[in-house]
Amino acid sequence: MSLLEVQELRTGYGALPVLQGISFSVEEGETCVIFGLNGAGKTTTVNCLAGVLPTWGGEVRFDGKKVSGKDAPGIVKAGIALSPEGRRVWAGLTVLKNLELGAWVRKDAKGIQASIEQVFSYFPRLEERKDQLAGTLSGGEQQMLAIGRAIMCKPRLLMIDEASLGLSPKLAQTVFQVVSQINDDGTTVIIVEQNVGVLPYADQALIMEKGTLTFDGRGAELEASGELRKTYLGESEQPA
Ligand SMILES: Nc1ncnc2c1ncn2[C@@H]1O[C@H](COP(=O)(O)OP(=O)(O)OP(=O)(O)O)[C@@H](O)[C@H]1O
Ligand SMILES: [Mg+2]
Repeated sequence: MSLLEVQELRTGYGALPVLQGISFSVEEGETCVIFGLNGAGKTTTVNCLAGVLPTWGGEVRFDGKKVSGKDAPGIVKAGIALSPEGRRVWAGLTVLKNLELGAWVRKDAKGIQASIEQVFSYFPRLEERKDQLAGTLSGGEQQMLAIGRAIMCKPRLLMIDEASLGLSPKLAQTVFQVVSQINDDGTTVIIVEQNVGVLPYADQALIMEKGTLTFDGRGAELEASGELRKTYLGESEQPA
């Protein structure tokens, strides 16, 4: 049994359908990357999985239990956390307060403190800035905080929407390395990315186009297949 099983998932906005019935699974302990052009439906997918958007049809099972239909707090309690697109941190609160509030589902004060220490070990920059207002952090630091805040719910599945957007190539690599460490420490990860530099960290890769999945395979397979070039550069397959 896979940790996450998505079957024929459909959703959209108002009368506009976006996800056309997508199906995929993610194995416990793996990192799954979702690639796709702007408007493909990546954010719609993770927002729907996070309970931020309603499910129109299909089913999502997490650890064997149905979670589709739960609201966002219910999904967090089930063990799925989202670091949303646009790193929406609480600008008027300190770094530390952002992290503490991220743990709202938990009551174990000691465990929460341990998680804060863990976030600081992943992102030492955040510890240096723990009393600074989140709104005054750099873009990269806000990205770290958004990921750190999601970890504070102690999720079994961490979803990150656009981890590297707007970051320098070097900082993007740093963020990917930390995400890989979080994964090694036992958290299953779904990461939405347009930066193909994430590929070495991907056990599984999906490509999304117009609300459907056009590729679902191993990260290494994708690298060899040329599908990414086709998607992002519009190259047609070359005859051998
Ligand atoms: N709140 C909304 N209301 C109406 N349509 C929306 C809304 N949010 C997204 N859409 C539409 O849904 C489609 C998928 O958008 P989505 O944000 O999921 O794409 P994406 O793959 O995350 O793109 P990007 O890489 O630009 O973040 C797009 O056609 C978009 O215009
Ligand atoms: Mg998006």
